[in-house]
Amino acid sequence: MENLISLVNKIQRACTALGDHGEASALPTLWDSLPAIAVVGGQSSGKSSVLESIVGKDFLPRGSGIVTRRPLVLQLHKLEEGSREYAEFLHIPRKRFTDFAAVRKEIQDETDRETGRTKQISSVPIHLSIYSPNEGQPDSIVQDIENMVRSYIEKPNCIILAISPANQDLATSDAIKISREVDPTGERTFGVLTKIDLMDKGTDAADILEGKSYRLKFPWIGVVNRSQADINKNVDMIAARRREREYFSTTPEYKHLAQRMGSEHLAKMLSKHLETVIKSRIPGIQSLISKTVLELENELSRLGKPIAADAGGKLYTIMEICRLFDQIYKEHLDGVRPGGDKI
Ligand code: GDP
Ligand code: NA
Ligand code: MG
Repeated sequence: MENLISLVNKIQRACTALGDHGEASALPTLWDSLPAIAVVGGQSSGKSSVLESIVGKDFLPRGSGIVTRRPLVLQLHKLEEGSREYAEFLHIPRKRFTDFAAVRKEIQDETDRETGRTKQISSVPIHLSIYSPNEGQPDSIVQDIENMVRSYIEKPNCIILAISPANQDLATSDAIKISREVDPTGERTFGVLTKIDLMDKGTDAADILEGKSYRLKFPWIGVVNRSQADINKNVDMIAARRREREYFSTTPEYKHLAQRMGSEHLAKMLSKHLETVIKSRIPGIQSLISKTVLELENELSRLGKPIAADAGGKLYTIMEICRLFDQIYKEHLDGVRPGGDKI
């Protein structure tokens, strides 16, 4: 598994070097062949908590507020009726955005500036203020966030972790709603039920977890993350996992399900699935790489040799990268052929 992840990381870096950042394109790109995991769910459903416990490290800010690839600290200010809605970023003082497409673009650009366009996460927050005459969250922003999420999870390479809190009605779950939309058969969606410990007395999630009341292709996995009080008390990951294990194995309603509940089980299931996906994608990835190498070689011969120092030099570097990955893939392909399973 670790080899596979490091391989995917290498290819992702090579993609970035080749100018493929995974943005929308008509033709399948290498980036689109790589598996990705997206954690989706409503505000404070426990996305950051689940992501952390899968990785096994505390690296995200958790709590209230909306988070993108960078935390988005959103403040809403009420304007008088009839005034025009606008937005302001803390990092661009005094510039008023009236076009919310421009707001979304600035969030993406500012995220890219901080994370170096590598699709990584940064904990440095973006501060955004919305001034609006409407009550509550302006529809445009909710819609913009939903569209941004959708642009990630609609790609077939995206594995969806759909997070729903157990202390809310599943029928209103944002995660279920949006994942159903892009993956109706549920073949790449894992349903995760958080906050089981916070359910009202006398109610339990056994029917959901047993797949009786809401069936998904992959079985539901229930988790108990750290509460806000735990976070404030600096309860560490090891202790949190131990407590989670104890919770499922000692609670009468869940005892019989304990083997397939909890963050560790979720991480295990996800690894298994990721491995299957990566293995199935390797031949496709390899042919894409070979195609790129071939195209670049044709281009090179068209340009003729010797190559000019600047432009040609750059081309060579890219070609070297392609060759290297082509070679790595061939080796890996050998590794995953029947009878030679080394991964
Ligand atoms: P996000 O907004 O979806 O990323 O949600 P967070 O992971 O930041 O969690 C929101 C709040 O709910 C935090 O205060 C967490 O400590 C708390 N929380 C998340 N999951 C659980 C859980 O399973 N049990 C309890 N008691 N609290 C949780
Ligand atoms: Na939150
Ligand atoms: Mg979060």
